[in-house]
Amino acid sequence: MAMKFLVTGGAGFIGSNFIKYILNEYPGCKVINLDKLTYAGNLDNLIGISKNKNYKFVKGDICDPVIVNRLIKDVDVVVHFAAETHVDRSISDAGTFIKTDVFGTFILLNSAKNSNIKKFIHISTDEVYGSIEDGSADEDSPLKPTNPYSASKAGADRLAYSYFQTFRVPVIITRSSNNFGPHQHVEKLIPLFTTNAIENKKLPLYGDGLNKRDWLYVIDNCEAIDFLINKGVEGQVYNIGANNEKTNMHISHTVLKELGKPDSLIEFVKDRASHDRRYALNWEKIRKLGWRPKHDFDTALKQTIKWYSENRWWWSKVKKGKFKDYYQKQYVKRWQGIS
Ligand code: NAD
Ligand code: TYD
Repeated sequence: MAMKFLVTGGAGFIGSNFIKYILNEYPGCKVINLDKLTYAGNLDNLIGISKNKNYKFVKGDICDPVIVNRLIKDVDVVVHFAAETHVDRSISDAGTFIKTDVFGTFILLNSAKNSNIKKFIHISTDEVYGSIEDGSADEDSPLKPTNPYSASKAGADRLAYSYFQTFRVPVIITRSSNNFGPHQHVEKLIPLFTTNAIENKKLPLYGDGLNKRDWLYVIDNCEAIDFLINKGVEGQVYNIGANNEKTNMHISHTVLKELGKPDSLIEFVKDRASHDRRYALNWEKIRKLGWRPKHDFDTALKQTIKWYSENRWWWSKVKKGKFKDYYQKQYVKRWQGIS
């Protein structure tokens, strides 16, 4: 039987890639996308499927139990991406993170408790482990979030688990590393640096530029989520990593080299408060189950840079809109890349 999905936050970066992936992979399935269209939600991410008869967009808030109760009735699987996601914003406005990431997750779980859904995929993050100085975090490592974003995500992650333990909601939790790929908001490292470089603007590198992230191509993450819908065990947490640990400096140089721009565009700026030095995942658990990423990092990064080069129409709209107003208020000095 063809599955029916409720995807939250499907107008954002990973959610939109996931919806397109799933409609392509399972032509008979049906997808409802519930998204509030915050500054990060962008219907341009879904051009091409907006008229697909198996896809329906609903503008709404996950914190609204009336909408959530109505939509959850007709679906088999919930994939919950919706969240406030940018660490810098969480430092200047933690309240929206608590509301959406924690309370919104509670509303969804509470609706799920009284529904017939077969799977509730809760999208958490590797950031819940906090900074990993040595080695890597496995699913049993302690959660030590260090900023309001990661703390809200840790709260939501454990709340999801509690709904499995207490009410047997069929929750599966994913904690992936940093994603990259097409349609990522320009506030995040790779799109910001790529689009700034294209415009010959500065690349604002925080601190000494040696913080490390493990980079995962977004389509690999979509495949892992699909894999876990089919093979994951309820009540379990799965790390999704790719062993592509790179410093921000390395990413900056690669972007500039790929675009034929000078290293002098790099500008060291004041560090982010409580800036996690390193994220690193042990993802043996999902590997043993049979998943591994398919995309080579260097090739996927080149393709991603090419995508931003060829889709200026997409990101110039975002840079001119609400994004610009926000950074003009908050980060005028630090974010010199934005005119
Ligand atoms: P994003 O910021 O690009 O998109 C978030 C989407 O959620 C937007 O479309 C926004 O409109 C929507 N949204 C926000 N508040 C909402 C609300 N109250 N009700 C309904 N919709 C709402 O985020 P992303 O990068 O695609 O991340 C998706 C999920 O994956 C998040 O839960 C995030 O924590 C997690 N995650 C992201 C990464 C990453 O590298 N991007 C890594 C690990 C985990
Ligand atoms: P980001 O894309 O915000 O993801 P996260 O903080 O959730 O990992 O940032 C990735 C890394 O890049 C992080 O170490 C912070 C750094 N960074 C900069 O140096 N300059 C920037 O302008 C941004 C947005 C990030």
